[in-house]
Amino acid sequence: MDSSTPAPWPGDIGPLFLGEEQIQARVAELGAQISRDYAGEDLIVIGVLKGVLVFMADLLRAITIPVTVDFLGISRYGPSQQTHGVVRLTNDLNETVAGRHVLFVEDVIDTGLTTNFIMRTLRLRQPESLEACVLLNRTRRRIIDVNLAYVGFDVPDDFVVGYGLDYREHYRNLPYIVKFEPDQSED
Ligand code: IMP
Ligand code: MG
Repeated sequence: MDSSTPAPWPGDIGPLFLGEEQIQARVAELGAQISRDYAGEDLIVIGVLKGVLVFMADLLRAITIPVTVDFLGISRYGPSQQTHGVVRLTNDLNETVAGRHVLFVEDVIDTGLTTNFIMRTLRLRQPESLEACVLLNRTRRRIIDVNLAYVGFDVPDDFVVGYGLDYREHYRNLPYIVKFEPDQSED
């Protein structure tokens, strides 16, 4: 298959990993927990584009306290299919985080390099507090230990797509998450 032509969907992508209802139920729980934990506080929710887009949209609507929202852009250099490369900030926040409660939201944490980079970057700006919320926590390949205050699902090694997660920018708009095994010979 040509590398620029992903498999059609739905159908040919892979087995269901997390269904829509299962995801929504867990996101509702996370939103409720965050709303309790930050009640009365000045909270800013920060995500990294683009993978967090769908999770963030649902999580925000499950949060019932006032919050503000901002996004960071990053790029990763390194071999494709791996994230062992260098992480660099490409788009900065519009909002100030100094003295505020910051919740960093991430789609999936794998090696921990990306989350660690973001947490270090945000911590330098002296927020009042800084915590991380991740939808999928895959620990097998973890290189850097990152403290995660909120975890949606602890997951095994499979590469997955959907619900914001991509393979070569595709499948982000699936409302559920499926396993995906990219053809390693392409890289
Ligand atoms: P880490 O830096 O190794 O923790 O990788 C986290 C980043 O890799 C995420 O923000 C995703 O963009 C990407 N990633 C890791 N696992 C998957 C996956 O299963 N599907 C899609 N993207 C993934
Ligand atoms: Mg990605």
